[in-house]
Amino acid sequence: MKNIAVFTSGGDAPGMNAAVRAVVRTGIYHKKNVFGIYYGYEGMIDGKVEKLNKKDVANIIHRGGTILKTSRSDRFRTPEGRAKAYKVLQKHKIEGIVAIGGDGTFTGASVFSEEYNIPFIGIPGTIDNDIYGTDYTIGFDTAINTAIEAIDKIRDTADSHNRLFFIEVMGRHAGDIALHTSIGSGASFTFLPETDTTVEDLIKYLENAKKRQKLFNLVIVAEGNKSGNAMKIRKKLKKINEKYDSRVMIIGHIQRGGSPSTHDRVLASRFGFAAVNALIEGKSNIAVGLINGQIVDTSFNDAVTKTKGIDLEMINMAEIISL
Ligand code: F6P
Repeated sequence: MKNIAVFTSGGDAPGMNAAVRAVVRTGIYHKKNVFGIYYGYEGMIDGKVEKLNKKDVANIIHRGGTILKTSRSDRFRTPEGRAKAYKVLQKHKIEGIVAIGGDGTFTGASVFSEEYNIPFIGIPGTIDNDIYGTDYTIGFDTAINTAIEAIDKIRDTADSHNRLFFIEVMGRHAGDIALHTSIGSGASFTFLPETDTTVEDLIKYLENAKKRQKLFNLVIVAEGNKSGNAMKIRKKLKKINEKYDSRVMIIGHIQRGGSPSTHDRVLASRFGFAAVNALIEGKSNIAVGLINGQIVDTSFNDAVTKTKGIDLEMINMAEIISL
């Protein structure tokens, strides 16, 4: 294997650049030519491929986003799109690929690699922390710290006005951001995609809180929870009882940007290093991950079909310590 490539795909996550840097430098250390594919699968189809040298990845470890850009590609879901992508890889004689992204990225890699027999190694990069086979994904730590920083500020004004705040965090299908943010910010109540929490449950909580002279409340809402987004929940609450003076804050894409935390930089560097070594050892169709502090491999099949799930004990703890 002489030529390898790296790309980022799906939602960007702080720390992706650190992973790209580690892939490029580890590849060059092993005397490989390392190519960057720009704009994820879209760029693979359109031939946006460039050789990277050590200097191309200098001064990026502290930068959020991804220097390789990213996209969510519908074309790659089609056999025609994948056929075009294969031609591009052939042109550059690419024999192994490191894909940095979430489960959509791994699904694409798995299908493509089976069709065209090109080894792929996945690196879990998404703020959602929802990939099976790793305790942490790149970007999660930075995202929750960004959310906490914002919520600490909201806490001041909520306290001053004795107000109820609904704070919406990212996570369409996964509640890990919401759960960690809730515990870390000392929030009162949490709506997660994984639970069946209702507005009536919230009212019960608020009524009890009032009896305890708790005058302000922070409610964390994962964008994809079953009772609706923060705006909807506030509306439902108002409909049942007008008396709650509440406001909504949607933290949104701020969670996806910013300089990565040290945790994410180190994790991303370890993943990048491990991914290139895995390619060199002849591994294929696996994602690297971190379990109990150790780098492990998980098959793409398991990574995309098995659910990581949420820590139920942590949900229980969050409820107890917010009473
Ligand atoms: O998967 C990462 C993520 O930030 C989710 O938390 C969020 O639901 C989604 O991406 C938003 O995607 P987009 O930026 O494409 O709207």
